[in-house]
Amino acid sequence: MQSLSLLSVSVVIVLAVSYSDAFTRNDFPKDFLFGAATSAYQWEGAVDEDGRTPSVWDTFSHSDNKKGDGDIACDGYHKYQEDVKLMAEMGLEAFRFSISWTRLIPNGRGPVNPKGLKFYKNLIKELRSHGIEPHVTLYHYDLPQALEDEYGGWINRKIIEDFTSFADVCFREFGEDVKLWTTINEANIFAIGAYSEGFLPPGHCSTNTFVNCSTGNSSTEPYIAGHNLLLAHASASKLYRLKYKSKQRGSIGFSIYAYGLSPYTNSTDDEIAFQRAKDFLFGWMLKPLVYGEYPDVMKKTLGSRLPVFSEEETEQVKGSSDFFGIIHYMTVYVTNSKPSPSLPPSNREFFTDMGVDTIFIGNSSFFGWDAIPWGFEGVLEYLKQSYNNPPLYILENGLPMEHDSALQDTPRVEYIQAYIGAMLNAIKNGSDTRGYFVWSMIDLYELLAEYKNSFGLYYVNFSDPGLKRSPKLSASWYSGFLKGTVDVASQDITQSQSNFSGSSSL
Ligand SMILES: *[C@@H]1O[C@H](CO)[C@@H](O)[C@H](O)[C@H]1NC(C)=O
Ligand SMILES: *[C@@H]1O[C@H](CO)[C@@H](O)[C@H](O)[C@H]1NC(C)=O
Ligand SMILES: *[C@@H]1O[C@H](CO)[C@@H](O)[C@H](O)[C@H]1NC(C)=O
Ligand SMILES: *[C@@H]1O[C@H](CO)[C@@H](O)[C@H](O)[C@H]1NC(C)=O
Ligand SMILES: *[C@@H]1O[C@H](CO)[C@@H](O)[C@H](O)[C@H]1NC(C)=O
Ligand SMILES: *[C@@H]1O[C@H](CO)[C@@H](O)[C@H](O)[C@H]1NC(C)=O
Ligand SMILES: *[C@@H]1O[C@H](CO)[C@@H](O)[C@H](O)[C@H]1NC(C)=O
Repeated sequence: MQSLSLLSVSVVIVLAVSYSDAFTRNDFPKDFLFGAATSAYQWEGAVDEDGRTPSVWDTFSHSDNKKGDGDIACDGYHKYQEDVKLMAEMGLEAFRFSISWTRLIPNGRGPVNPKGLKFYKNLIKELRSHGIEPHVTLYHYDLPQALEDEYGGWINRKIIEDFTSFADVCFREFGEDVKLWTTINEANIFAIGAYSEGFLPPGHCSTNTFVNCSTGNSSTEPYIAGHNLLLAHASASKLYRLKYKSKQRGSIGFSIYAYGLSPYTNSTDDEIAFQRAKDFLFGWMLKPLVYGEYPDVMKKTLGSRLPVFSEEETEQVKGSSDFFGIIHYMTVYVTNSKPSPSLPPSNREFFTDMGVDTIFIGNSSFFGWDAIPWGFEGVLEYLKQSYNNPPLYILENGLPMEHDSALQDTPRVEYIQAYIGAMLNAIKNGSDTRGYFVWSMIDLYELLAEYKNSFGLYYVNFSDPGLKRSPKLSASWYSGFLKGTVDVASQDITQSQSNFSGSSSL
């Protein structure tokens, strides 16, 4: 194992900073948190050890035509101490991870699993003892399979009570040491991918746009799931405020996936489509949370397919998020695509309802994208201006690369640097952004790319029985940035020059 602290002194990386002005860690507020992220199923492995039971993600990854699963992943369950040490060496200020519901409460409801409890207590203690702030996500795609089987999971209102009980255990057991809670990971893309398009677990759909699904209803389920996600979040948030907040003094937030958006042409149709895309993709979740109601354009387009909040629910949802978590990777053009009038509502899905086509910019594709930092800055500006400048944490941002490509991941370094610069611009212009997490701390089992493409600051050799970790150039760069030893101030030096010794081991 190479020592990163040794590496970072010998590395001088100077990249073309064509976008942002010079900046350093010290340009950000002292209490701003820079970290990196993982999630339980993608990092832990040990899926049937010590009492854990399957989640819908286990089932999904083991279903036909999938390559790979999270059975072992990078074995964070057994290697957490080693990984926390790497984080500490890198100088991470915060670590975002999620709690596996079925490790803590097997089958989703009922008694707490003492071994699961112990694992998360140990992990949190390990982080704290290294001065790393934990940021905990409660739900990251891994619904207990037992609850899916029993009542359909997120499309049934019974989930609200079960999710709240799970959250209660987490607040009670971990809340003394955890001050930052995100209830739901990228709720909008979860509802779309899992209930309209079927490419995310549990894989429901009826329109067969991307995959053939055996169950689901793309015209109704995404909106029902979205509604229940909001209500479950609001219920957990209410519980936290009533029972824990005065003692534990933490914050609780909700997160969405936020594309950068830009109209494809300056035609009136595309300008209106641009607004509609913002309402469907952001407003769907954020408008209820900030203003207590769904966007008008969604009510009008969806009619009775969009669930309605009771007065009491409106009050509970509105203001229930202390911050918003933002998952941001790419910017797309949007162009008008009104559904043909002959398409009956029962055959529609989220994207035909939205009436917008998205077009990748430049060389971007589903599994790789260009750095478009202005798109990110635009998201932060939009949220500031349209949603009362809410506190934000950037919970994920990063670049996938083919897994076996060099440890010298220069494009990732350029990407992260450009996006941190864009975020700084937004903060200087008033955005209340309080933290930034690179996705991911280490190579993981990826949601869509399995083990083919990875995002890690650390490389994991998945063929090695010991799952050896090695720092990539990006880990050295991030470490240098956090410790103030990397010079991101020289704007016109175009060469990426490094004596990065990690390159020899791949
Ligand atoms: C779904 O299955 C049908 C019939 O087997 C096939 O024609 C179609 O291409 C499949 N669609 C997708 C997206 O795989
Ligand atoms: C769109 O842009 C073109 C080229 O800049 C300009 O000629 C045209 O007037 C613009 N149209 C609208 C509707 O703004
Ligand atoms: C979806 O649900 C709606 C409303 O219940 C129904 O009209 C429609 O036929 C269903 N579609 C499918 C594919 O089951
Ligand atoms: C797209 O990729 C090609 C070939 O890799 C490269 O020459 C070109 O500069 C790229 N374009 C953009 C916009 O990045
Ligand atoms: C900075 O914020 C102001 C006030 O919200 C806004 O009008 C302006 O467009 C923002 N500037 C940029 C570059 O986004
Ligand atoms: C990964 O580990 C295997 C088995 O130990 C080894 O043969 C291989 O060279 C390693 N690959 C890399 C890229 O380090
Ligand atoms: C890289 O290493 C060489 C030889 O070891 C040394 O002369 C040079 O100064 C180093 N460059 C940087 C930027 O550290």
